[in-house]
This record gives sequence, C-alpha cells and structure tokens, in this order.
Amino acid sequence: MTATTNDVAVPPPSAASAAQRTPAGTPRADAARDHLWGHFTRHSVYEPDESGHRGAVPVIVSGEGARITDDRGRTYLDGLSGLFVVQAGHGRRELAEAAAKQAETLAFFPLWSYATPPAIDLAERLAAHAPGDLDRVFFTTGGGEAVETAWKLAKQYFKLTGRPGKTKVISRAVAYHGTPQGALSITGIPSAKAPFEPLVPGTFRVPNTNQYRAPEHLRDDAKAFGRWAADRIEEAILFEGADTVAAVFLEPVQNSGGCFPPPPGYFERVREICDEHDVLLVSDEVICAFGRIGSMFACDDLGYVPDMITCAKGMTSGYSPIGACIASDRLFEPFRHGDTTFAHGYTFGGHPVSAAVAMANLDLFEREGLNARVKEHAPAFRRTLEKLLDLPIVGDVRGEGYFYGIELVKDRATRETFTDAEAERLLRGFLSPALFEAGLYCRADDRGDPVVQLAPPLVCGQAEFDEIEQVLRSVLTRAQELL
Ligand SMILES: Cc1ncc(COP(=O)(O)O)c(C=O)c1O
Repeated sequence: MTATTNDVAVPPPSAASAAQRTPAGTPRADAARDHLWGHFTRHSVYEPDESGHRGAVPVIVSGEGARITDDRGRTYLDGLSGLFVVQAGHGRRELAEAAAKQAETLAFFPLWSYATPPAIDLAERLAAHAPGDLDRVFFTTGGGEAVETAWKLAKQYFKLTGRPGKTKVISRAVAYHGTPQGALSITGIPSAKAPFEPLVPGTFRVPNTNQYRAPEHLRDDAKAFGRWAADRIEEAILFEGADTVAAVFLEPVQNSGGCFPPPPGYFERVREICDEHDVLLVSDEVICAFGRIGSMFACDDLGYVPDMITCAKGMTSGYSPIGACIASDRLFEPFRHGDTTFAHGYTFGGHPVSAAVAMANLDLFEREGLNARVKEHAPAFRRTLEKLLDLPIVGDVRGEGYFYGIELVKDRATRETFTDAEAERLLRGFLSPALFEAGLYCRADDRGDPVVQLAPPLVCGQAEFDEIEQVLRSVLTRAQELL
C-alpha cells in the first residue's frame, strides 16, 4: 500500500489558450510540472512515458454549487467537497463578501494576548454548539495543527495537575490525523510515516471499527464487535500503564480505510474506559464536524461527550482556512492561575478573515437548514449507493450522513481483497482517471483496503446521488471487465 491517493493526470492541451497560461505566458501544464509541488502527489505521472506521452495536472478553475470546472471547460460533480471541505457548495457570494469585508476592516491581528471580534464571536459560537463543558476554543489554521494542539494540551494538563507521566496517545489502525510530526505519529498508516521516522515517540495503535473486516466470529454481531474494539483500547492503556497514557484520539466515523462508523455501544464503552483510567478522549472531527454526519459536531450524532474536539475543514466551507481544538473547562482550569501559560500558537491561528467567513458560513448553515437537510436525505444517499451492491466488485457500502466508502473486492463471497499490484492497477491505472473522465471527482484510496470515497457538498440531493450512482455503476462495471 502506498500513502498517496488520487494521482489523476489529464492530457496536456495541444495549444494553450490565453486562459491556460500563467501571467508570465507559460502554459500552466508546464508551469505546474516545473514549479508546483503537489501534496501527496506522485510526480512521475507528469513525466513522459515510453512513447513520449505525458500527463498534466488537472487545473480546476471555478465552482458553482456541487460542480467544479477545469481549464478545459469540462464540468464535474464534486463528490468529495474538494477534500471534505466545501459543505455549503461552491460559488457562495456571501462567504466571499464576508472575507472581503473583514479584510477591509482588519485583515490581520494575532491572538497572542490580543483578540479580534470575529475570533471572539466564533469561539463563543463553537462553544455553544459543542457538547458538555467544551467551552474553550484554541484556534489553529487547519486540522493537523488542531490535533497537534490537542496532544500538547493533554501533556501539559497532566503536568500541571500532578501526573507528569501521562504523555502517551492511543489511536486506531489506518486512521489519518494529519502531517505535523506529532499528528503524524498519532496517524495509523505506516507507509505515510516511514519516510519521516523517527517521529514523536509514545503513540500506540488499536484496531479500528471496520465491521466488514472484523474477526470472523464478530462480523455478524455489531454490538459484540463494538465491545471488543472498545476493549482493545483498555487493553492498550493497561499494557502501557494508565499512569503513562494521556489521550485517545478517535474520529467519530473513521475516514481512512473507507468510512468506518462506530458499532453500537462503542463510544459509550470508550467513554467509560477513559473515565476509569483518567485518559482524555479526543474526538477528531476534522472531517465529521459541520454537518458531514448531520450535526455541528458528530459526537452529538453518536451520543458521546469527549474532552476535546479537533475540527477544521467545513468550518468555513473552505472559503478561508481555519481549525480549532475545543477543550473542556476542566482542561482549561489549571491554565487560569499565576504565570501558567500554554506556550503554543500559530501566527495565522484564528485569522480574522477566516473567523469572519466561519461566522457567515454558520449563518448560512442555519438559514438553509443544512444539518437538517443531511439528516433528511442521508437515508436516500445510503439507499442509492447500496444499489451498487449488485456489482460483484462492490464488497461493502458503509458510512453515515453524507460520508460514504465503497470497498472494492476481488471476490465478494470470500471478501478477498486485491494484492498491492492489483490495487495499484485498479485505482491509479484505471479508476481515478476513469471516474474523473466520466465527470465525477471523488477519491479512490488504498491506504487501507481499496475504497472509493464520497462526501458531496451538503446542498446535494437525490439528483446528485443518482448521478454519483450512475457514474460509479458504469465505471465499476468497466473495472470488473478489466480484472
Ligand atoms: C481526521 C483528520 N484529522 C486531521 C487531519 C489533518 O487536517 P489538515 O489537512 O487540515 O492539517 C485530517 C485531514 O484530512 C483528518 O481527516
């Protein structure tokens, strides 16, 4: 398995139009190849092959609603909300205007001992949405920094409260928690970590909640599987010694590996375990918050109260970057006294423009009832995707809200998956480019077993669900024929 995901290349334009050139006059396909370093991108796809053909990076130039358009004038359904981000859809003028208005009023000021109205207003609003006593908001610029913040906060909290040995973190196999070295250390994808070892020591993995790949005797008993998976967390805490473990980092619905919802009773049991061993429960909602599952925070959808929430992506629907670690009053308490300081921060954390955009985005959520919309339409999204289960290559369809994974298998009866070489041919060689070419932007991912992932903007409804199903049906049918 590799750590990269989509790697789609398109044919470079034979003659670049003015719109396909940089201000310096270079065809963008060439400038991208020569100067832009893609994130998690395999650049060899832009090098000439044996016959001299080379691919170009797809250049997306505009968006409207659930559609994006590339520089060749082709339009695609954005089946992944960019990267689980664009909840309110593309082209929302009021979000752009909120950014412009704030930039004119005060483009920048840091949260280092000072504050700005949008950051204060947003902190108050997030605290009101967060469950329990999660009332204190530490802003970052994105999700990985929020995870990094949560770990550092957990360590210092235990130092301040007389348990300095509690520093370790437990997380789940195949889970992705970001790229800063702490967050990457918490990540459970060995191939994503290997190039950067040694990482921050003191993190440990437990099984995730992939029911489809559960131990055979638990596959048909979700409750028993949930209990078993939660108990693995307690086992890890005991193996390491509870007085050395600071926190457990879990996504409400785990993204990497293909959307694993928690089995019934899982989070209830995890909460009990954390309370018993005085271990903090961090709900990493970088993807799942802001309506993706149906509520502002997915822990509400799933009925648990964590000690911290990490979030980012959908907070502004992507119109400006921001992230946050939301902590409980209990965690903030020791920081209220004397010269105690959380010596941690980011120049752009809680940027006023982003905070103002987040406020406008949350206004839009309320006015358009986006969360209620997800709750109403999610069963139809599931039903529509489940139609694909009649294709032999589709092993499992799973997820919650507007967040689904479709696991592809070689043999549905035995659940046999593909070898690394087959997955490489199937995902990179065929599926990613074929889906894009057929007008659907989504994600074919092999960080766990091969899956196609879908997370459309929350403004989508049955028409888009049908379109997604039809494109997938046609492309997956062709994929089967190639096997
Ligand atoms: C669960 C989770 N945590 C953390 C991150 C890292 O967020 P960012 O890319 O904003 O740093 C991601 C990104 O996808 C994520 O899905």
